[in-house]
Amino acid sequence: MSTKPIGVFDSGVGGTSIWKEIHKLLPFENSIYLADSKNAPYGEKSADEILALSIKNTEFLLKQNCKLIVVACNTATTNAIAYLRNNYDVPFIGIEPAIKPAALNSKSKTIGVLATKGTLSSALFNSTSKSYSEGILIIEQDGEGLVPLIEAGQVHSKNTKDLLLKYLNPMINKGMDHLVLGCTHYPYLIPVIKDIVPSNVQIIDSGEAVARQTKNILEKLNIAAPVQVSKHQFYSNTNSKSLKDFLLDYDVTVDYLDF
Ligand code: SIN
Repeated sequence: MSTKPIGVFDSGVGGTSIWKEIHKLLPFENSIYLADSKNAPYGEKSADEILALSIKNTEFLLKQNCKLIVVACNTATTNAIAYLRNNYDVPFIGIEPAIKPAALNSKSKTIGVLATKGTLSSALFNSTSKSYSEGILIIEQDGEGLVPLIEAGQVHSKNTKDLLLKYLNPMINKGMDHLVLGCTHYPYLIPVIKDIVPSNVQIIDSGEAVARQTKNILEKLNIAAPVQVSKHQFYSNTNSKSLKDFLLDYDVTVDYLDF
């Protein structure tokens, strides 16, 4: 057993959607969350830049003595997780778009994937997508512009709805019945997305699966926390208030960090 914290990083507030699932399933685990909002969106950066930022975030969390790191960002996972796993001595959990369940369950054989440019252009995403593409139309859409709006707390703004209409309507017109959210920021858009897509469209994100995987690894390595009151430290390198707004229901500490 280990009381060391789980480390979680993202390009900003989006990874809190993953942290919430982990906390629900593993309430005794301490955690440290790093929101690299200053550098958001990662999805518009080059693969080399995404890797350099992922290394920086990882090294910060390792200095805080984290026992496991959740890369709570699809763009960082698809571009950097292989390097991180090969170069650091802690387990890493990544977030991959849930193409598999969508492809296996689609009746219309048409699924949509909304993700960042950085994710859609990565080798890891393309090999996953290819392995489930037989007999399935996979419509990929770059969600450019959505992450900055979410970071700015504008989930319910007209700009956000207009962008979603532009991105989702072509998928709806082609008959998609599953929409895969391939960015950890996007689960915060689900209420808006539900107003746009027909009711038969299943919206799939990876949060629960990532929490289950985290639990499995902690148990397998015998490093899960004992029964305890857990502590949670959140850091943002821009405005800690906007991070706090995504955590209103939680007893956590949210601070600015010059990082
Ligand atoms: C971004 O920073 O562009 C989005 C992060 C993600 O892919 O989850």
